[in-house]
Amino acid sequence: MPYNRNILCIGAGYVGGPTMAMIAHQCPDYRVTVVDINPERIAAWNSDELPIYEPGLDEIVRAVRGKNLFFSTDVEQGIRENDIIFVSVNTPTKTFGVGAGMAADLQYWEKTARQILQYAQTPKIVIEKSTLPVKTAQAMESILRHTGNGIWFEVLSNPEFLAEGSAIRDLTNPDRVLIGSRETKSGLLARQILVDIYASWVPRERILTSNIWSSELSKLVSNAFLAQRISSINAISALCEKTEADVEEVARAVGMDSRIGPKFLNASIGFGGSCFKKDILNLVYLCRHYGLDDVAAYWESVVRINEYQQERFMGTMLTAMFNTLAGKRICLFGFAFKANTGDTRESPAIFIARRLMEEKAEVVITDPQALKNARVDLNDTAGNVRYVADPYEAAAGCHAIAVLTEWDLYRKLDYRRIYESMEQPAFLFDGRNILDHQGCFDLGFNVFPLGKPPLKHF
Ligand code: NAD
Ligand code: UGA
Repeated sequence: MPYNRNILCIGAGYVGGPTMAMIAHQCPDYRVTVVDINPERIAAWNSDELPIYEPGLDEIVRAVRGKNLFFSTDVEQGIRENDIIFVSVNTPTKTFGVGAGMAADLQYWEKTARQILQYAQTPKIVIEKSTLPVKTAQAMESILRHTGNGIWFEVLSNPEFLAEGSAIRDLTNPDRVLIGSRETKSGLLARQILVDIYASWVPRERILTSNIWSSELSKLVSNAFLAQRISSINAISALCEKTEADVEEVARAVGMDSRIGPKFLNASIGFGGSCFKKDILNLVYLCRHYGLDDVAAYWESVVRINEYQQERFMGTMLTAMFNTLAGKRICLFGFAFKANTGDTRESPAIFIARRLMEEKAEVVITDPQALKNARVDLNDTAGNVRYVADPYEAAAGCHAIAVLTEWDLYRKLDYRRIYESMEQPAFLFDGRNILDHQGCFDLGFNVFPLGKPPLKHF
């Protein structure tokens, strides 16, 4: 059957896969192809075991794959056959040269631009889905337009705001969809084509249009504001521990001010994930580039507090357990950077596991979805760490449990059984404040919540 539109997405990752599955699902008259240079990833998208764990994703992919959603490694054919091209490749922090540790590494991005240029035979709308430094569209345009093949390319910015673990919910019912374009005739025309795609299921008033630079910058700023809230409450959790205030009570009181709002005020071991840190550092780098050193320092402190919070959690464990962890067995409840995902990129658990090993502790890791990735993250430490799927088995014989991911499963365990299987005195460090602290204390645990007075038997 002829399709209304043929859409391509380059990059079949955490963003490309779910967003394109959603478009295919909501727009049966569009043909959507997702390509990637990684053949294993594409094979997994075409199999029963998808490459990422995301609640609700399997059902959607199963409903449309092979009908109007296709996964392929043929980037060249994809570019030839599609006129609307989303680019959703990775944009990690640069690890080399100028801007190392700060700036975005745009090599994958630029490679795609060159591939589009090489294979395109008809005009294309190229859409930035990846998170990019403001002004990247200008570089994209320079590559696409000034090399003389005469084909017209219109570049749009359409940043993605989904969060992992709730991607399908976020895509089904987004707070907003943002589309930035040049305010030229062709820019506005291309923008309208993209608006029409989203308008298939997103209420029109939630589809925002803006100039292309505002769109690029809004994505970085959204992540910076979200991360800033977490660092703010984490900083306050340190003060709560000194003053016997309770960070949850403070967050509740503060968050009930409708100007502030209650979300994203959960104190934790620090934010993880592939984006917050990289996007803030990217923002910091941009500010420095434009000579705005004070602005850069302001945002950089959000990352510093995040590192401080992780180190602080380690310090609490060390001090509580009589200043030595050597030879002690510590069980990590959770390794994913948040619940409902198997993703461990920048997970604070990586830092904590490594620091525990530096203190010569034995580490046992359990997680319902992330053990495969944990093994990869810690593959250089083989021997000092065990991976155990069952949390009861993982905790047995340990001196302490540290809750690092807020999986629902950990709220519902039989902590009496766990306590009785552990070395005594048994310690519980709740890095997510999800457990019944008083209940665990009554069972015999020494309990160390975050931002609250500890409950100790000595
Ligand atoms: P990812 O690493 O999971 O996926 C990127 C994919 O692009 C990889 O599979 C890689 O093989 C592929 N790729 C790289 N170069 C390619 C090329 N030349 N041709 C074809 N494929 C290529 O990354 P992700 O988490 O999906 O993030 C992608 C972008 O979206 C990033 O800029 C990120 O900041 C942004 N973002 C991510 C999230 C998230 O929740 N992960 C949310 C919003 C925005
Ligand atoms: C985040 C943003 O929420 C998305 O809008 C954005 O699209 C995405 O980054 C991105 O650009 O990649 P994500 O990282 O998937 O999404 O997950 P979040 O729910 O934001 O959590 C990030 C980290 O903050 C997690 O480690 C989480 O545990 C932590 N967090 C979150 C807290 O410590 N406290 C909170 O109150 C909320």
